[in-house]
Amino acid sequence: MWGGRFAEGPSAIMREINASIPFDKALWRQDIAASKAHVAMLGAQGIVSSADMKAISDGLDAVAAEYEKDGVPEDWDLEDIHMTTESRLAELIGPAAGRLHTARSRNDQVATDFRLWVRETLDQTDAGLASLQRALVTQAEAHADSIMPGFTHLQTAQPVTLGHHLMAYYEMLRRDRSRLQDARDRMNECPLGSAALAGTGFPIDRDATAMALSFDRPTANSLDAVSDRDFALDYLMAASQISLHLSRLAEEFIIWASQPFGFVRMADSLSTGSSIMPQKKNPDAAELVRGHAGRIIGAATSLMITMKGLPLAYSKDMQDDKPPVFEAAGLLALSIAAMTGMVADSTFKTDRMRQAAELGYATATDLADWLVTEADIPFREAHHITGAAVKLAEQRGVALDELSLEDLKAIDARIDERVYAALSVEASVAARKSYGGTAPDQVRNQVTAARVELGMET
Ligand code: ARG
Repeated sequence: MWGGRFAEGPSAIMREINASIPFDKALWRQDIAASKAHVAMLGAQGIVSSADMKAISDGLDAVAAEYEKDGVPEDWDLEDIHMTTESRLAELIGPAAGRLHTARSRNDQVATDFRLWVRETLDQTDAGLASLQRALVTQAEAHADSIMPGFTHLQTAQPVTLGHHLMAYYEMLRRDRSRLQDARDRMNECPLGSAALAGTGFPIDRDATAMALSFDRPTANSLDAVSDRDFALDYLMAASQISLHLSRLAEEFIIWASQPFGFVRMADSLSTGSSIMPQKKNPDAAELVRGHAGRIIGAATSLMITMKGLPLAYSKDMQDDKPPVFEAAGLLALSIAAMTGMVADSTFKTDRMRQAAELGYATATDLADWLVTEADIPFREAHHITGAAVKLAEQRGVALDELSLEDLKAIDARIDERVYAALSVEASVAARKSYGGTAPDQVRNQVTAARVELGMET
């Protein structure tokens, strides 16, 4: 490609270190689309003749058809997807192919291609999260009344409903989706026409190419446009946060599926057996989602470090932007799909959850609250009285509501038999009807709002 300047070809090492085709061939669709938009603009502006424009555009379609059918050939001498496509175009249509690169550089070309790729991936990620949200909402609705222990410090705290617990993840994903939307709005500017770094002397129409590629507008500074990878970082940051949420949900399933908990039976389709222990059913998919979060966050770190300290404008370091993004996107898509299946296809063992909710004095706060409401005792004192009741129940080895009224009255004479109604786990969750609380009616309200937001039938 640059025989004019160089006397000798590159060494084998140079060829290998320089070649990005092994991974950037993933950009072929975006590369063809951006080239077609570019040449259409060149034709419209009279920078290339309409005959050449048509030959190039048809030729690009022919190259695309070949890629679709046989894959993209990997010739290291051609370095990257941009030169691979241009070289094949030249083989197919002859010297007119050389006019495609007028008023363009690979620097604005790759910045455009990669933005298109990330934008598309972002939309797919968002659609995946919407599916996972639908699965959560469906299970939450079915389990708006199912009682389980709520934890703080992974110690039994207060009874909650499973629906409430699942809807907590709905909220995390709602924020994730809004982060994706922010990133999309910010990245939707077209670098094409920035050329190598300084813009071009040709009378191009940047608005036309931006519009043709569904960008909101062209980027405003050519130096920034060719050296900016914030769009990829925004995606990786959002992906990292999504992976954090998915790994937390995965961890819940891992704990819930363990025998001492026994809260959930995971679908066989997302579990594996052990090669030595016949009784085992392992939550491998959930563990891999938890593990993948490490690699996705690693990808974000990798690109930040690549970009750190680079002077304007393009430097070849930036070719290393793609592998971490591609890797993270693949891992994230799989993780979202796995968690969607896990949520949708798991069977929750609600009896077991309810039993567990009755252990650990989960309704102690309800006793304290009852003392405040019914006996007008200040909360701190009520807390103290309840502590004594828990201590006694612990000594006797019984639940709070198994203490006799006599025992309770001995702790504080103001307690009467109405207290028992407050001590059941059902009464406990039903009482927590503050906005956003765990009461089944509140959960149903959350579900209804979510259904509207997701465009599900209500
Ligand atoms: N393969 C290169 C990349 O991915 C394309 C841009 C090359 N630009 C250059 N000035 N060598 O970054």
